[in-house]
Amino acid sequence: MKVAIGNDHGGVELKQYLIKHLQETGHEPVNFGCDSPESTDYPIYAERVAKAVVAGECDRGILICGTGIGISISANKIHGVRCALCSEPVSARLSREHNDANIVAMGARTIGPVMAEAIVDVFLNTGFQAGRHQRRVDKIMALDRGESVQ
Ligand code: RB5
Repeated sequence: MKVAIGNDHGGVELKQYLIKHLQETGHEPVNFGCDSPESTDYPIYAERVAKAVVAGECDRGILICGTGIGISISANKIHGVRCALCSEPVSARLSREHNDANIVAMGARTIGPVMAEAIVDVFLNTGFQAGRHQRRVDKIMALDRGESVQ
């Protein structure tokens, strides 16, 4: 799977660890930066990864900042994104099964590399269940288009 990955200065080390893990597990990571510990702004990388996923250039996305909060909020501002902030694999699985999340966000200051690896593995290997969840995802996307839902 082609996986877009991006982060701010807080996520450089975890990103590098996950790129290696993605390569070892047969995926093709595409690195959208940043690669320096110098302070930068997470919306830049959220936009790059989100646009690559929405355009279909990458199949899924991974975003990392200190907490995962700022970068997930930013990604969810891009039309077509369903970004789930996860700190354990159960939420990562359900974000795929129920929400058809296309990007996972994590906090490098809140979880360790082994947990991040487990989250990524589940996120990339779990399908959307559709069924009743399709109706709800359709409503998320209606909200995304500025429509009202009932
Ligand atoms: C950057 O210092 C920090 O605010 C950022 O990585 C993230 O935690 C924001 O949500």
